[in-house]
Amino acid sequence: MATWHRLGTRAELLARVPCALRIDHHAIALFQHDGRFRALGNACNHKGGPLAEGRMRDEFVVCPWHGWEYSVVTGRGPAGYDEEQVPVFAVEERPDGVFVATPPELPRKLVKHKRLHLLDEHPKPAGAPPRLLGISTTAMDAANPRFSTSDALLDHALASAQQARGVDTQRIRLRDLAFRHCEGNYSKAARACTWPCAITERDPDDQLTPVYEGLVHWADVMILATPIRWGNLSSLYYKMAERLNCIQNQITTHDRVLIKNKVVAFIITGGQDNVQAVAGQLLSFWGELGFAVPPFPFIAHTRGWDAEDMARNVRQVRASDALREAAAQLALRALAFWAVLDAHRAELDKPMERSGRKAQRLAPAAEPGDAS
Ligand code: FES
Repeated sequence: MATWHRLGTRAELLARVPCALRIDHHAIALFQHDGRFRALGNACNHKGGPLAEGRMRDEFVVCPWHGWEYSVVTGRGPAGYDEEQVPVFAVEERPDGVFVATPPELPRKLVKHKRLHLLDEHPKPAGAPPRLLGISTTAMDAANPRFSTSDALLDHALASAQQARGVDTQRIRLRDLAFRHCEGNYSKAARACTWPCAITERDPDDQLTPVYEGLVHWADVMILATPIRWGNLSSLYYKMAERLNCIQNQITTHDRVLIKNKVVAFIITGGQDNVQAVAGQLLSFWGELGFAVPPFPFIAHTRGWDAEDMARNVRQVRASDALREAAAQLALRALAFWAVLDAHRAELDKPMERSGRKAQRLAPAAEPGDAS
């Protein structure tokens, strides 16, 4: 049987809507549309986004997290999505105020969606060789290619490892992928940044999928190659790194470690120095994702401040057996370190401390005079 709850006068509520209310354990979003108050369940059917914080598009409220829409009149999605429904609560305006009834008069209806864009899991058959993924982050116009020192060393590292150890290799060039910038869902709420990435889930044209699949489901070892530009990594690197927040965020929001027993190493080349700072940034970020690093986890080469002669730099790298050998050794070192981890997989699979204590509160400090 319905129980009616007085919410306030019309004038009081007009000053507040849209707003969130909690009544009898029901989270309710109150709206005003076409001169009438309307009440829906406040939690979006997708990932629980707060509908009261959404914007209105005609009679639809647009979820502030990833844009699902619901009619504030029927609770249903727009045409084509109208099997989906959030709870609808009856609202009445009476001479003595506005009232809402609980429980909802129309219940939540969840539809199992055919996901357009799933990540493949790439299970590794028993006895299969280690998998080595190379990611090149340098930007370049494919129609006007140039020699990239970081690309060349990465290619050599992959080819050498394949030859020496028979490993399975895969190379991804970020410049070949059309992928969208991170939309900052994390800034709305930690749980709005989902795995798989909300962009990957809803945009079949977004091409970051091979990176997600490669890092989480395919690779045992990953080598990332980057140029140094103005003392920093390539802009494409940052574009990708922002989209990888959804991997780290699973640890923060669900205590779920997606990257385990994997090894990462880096190739850093450029015209000017700042190698340690760039390497430090890489070590911190990829460590926070869950990767382990071998001893001496990067190789680098830069030309230096007083030698603005990059044509010579390219010639030097092209001709350098020492750099190629270093790249090959980096790959072999990373693979050897992975083999150690793999041999101890059972021990490493035990629950670990969460990364860097991110999002973990300290116990409240005892106040002076508290009983011990
Ligand atoms: S669209 Fe509402 S939580 Fe994703």
